[in-house]
Amino acid sequence: MVEVVVSHSPGFDDLVLNEITRTHAQAAHTGSPAPGVMLVSVPGSFNAFARPWQDALPIYLHHIFPAQVCLRLAGTPDDLRLLQDAFRADLAPLIRPGLPLGIQPRLVADAHGRAVPDAPPAPQDLPYTADGVRRALARAANQRITQPGEQILCVVIAEAQEGLTAHMGVSLAAQNISAWAGGAVPYRQAVPSRAAYKLYEAVDAFGPYGLALEPGRQALDLGAAPGGWTRVLREHGLTVTAVDAAEMDPAVAADPGVAHIQLPAEVYVERVRGPYDVITNDIIIDAQDSARLMVDYADALRQGATGVMTLKLRAHNRRRVMDHSFRLLRKAYHIVRVRQLYYNRSEVTLLLRRS
Ligand SMILES: C[S@@+](CC[C@H](N)C(=O)[O-])C[C@H]1O[C@@H](n2cnc3c(N)ncnc32)[C@H](O)[C@@H]1O
Repeated sequence: MVEVVVSHSPGFDDLVLNEITRTHAQAAHTGSPAPGVMLVSVPGSFNAFARPWQDALPIYLHHIFPAQVCLRLAGTPDDLRLLQDAFRADLAPLIRPGLPLGIQPRLVADAHGRAVPDAPPAPQDLPYTADGVRRALARAANQRITQPGEQILCVVIAEAQEGLTAHMGVSLAAQNISAWAGGAVPYRQAVPSRAAYKLYEAVDAFGPYGLALEPGRQALDLGAAPGGWTRVLREHGLTVTAVDAAEMDPAVAADPGVAHIQLPAEVYVERVRGPYDVITNDIIIDAQDSARLMVDYADALRQGATGVMTLKLRAHNRRRVMDHSFRLLRKAYHIVRVRQLYYNRSEVTLLLRRS
């Protein structure tokens, strides 16, 4: 038996569990120490649990690691010594010599939801930070630490109902679904909107599945304002037609490689000219309407054109809404991949190919 810490988007627990049990029928949910963090107990090894998702990216799971140590903490500075002692006793023997080691602590609280997706609420009033935990464990590991590393010491400190608890484990980054703590790739680029991180993450996640944004290509960006996705497309050297009735960021609007069409996408579809190589769609509308709109734009795309879109999901009937949206999209697209990215909130991101 092995216990696994699973990170995912808060509020998606049912879909996460369903995804796990479809692959591992005997997996049992043993707790949720914080929103977006789930404990699952499975027969066999962590490697056997992780194996299927090394070949095919899951939809909802952002990050997994084996909980080889579970430790009650007091919320005092002495916690750092307890973590170091537990590391030396139980985890240091698992570290593979010579393989770059990353240390990834997350402090998460039992609050509802989170303010911004890359900063889950931390337990209040702890006398240490995630960085303090990292430094303390680095001293205990007594070797050079790299980020993200090829083998990772993951730590989740959660203020759950039963008190402050640390789950720790060592695994290979390749087994963890993401090489980054909780799946949060630390993008640092200055962007016109945080939405840009979704497209950065989609490029990383979908690259192995054929998403290539090639210089010189023509892109149509629906729901483009204020211009995060448009900026990412421009960084890859594409020329962009950005469709949104709202204002674009002035710097993006002034870019000669961007044509801003200040209209709703439903109106512009009547006069769009193609052919485009790439279509992106981050419009905030009902998922099924968004899928219909993508089909309406399909005639303006080259055959084999790439599509990246977000499907906005409300709390209820998400599975049904997704299935219906997929059926609509299949009239004009092959659905290559679906992924709930770390930077997605109540939505999933799709990689499409014009059929
Ligand atoms: C999440 S924001 C897009 C953010 C954008 N991808 C970025 O990176 O900055 C959603 C956008 O959809 C736009 N929108 C809503 N309904 C629309 C429609 N019918 N046609 C075009 N854009 C629409 C909104 O004006 C808003 O700018």
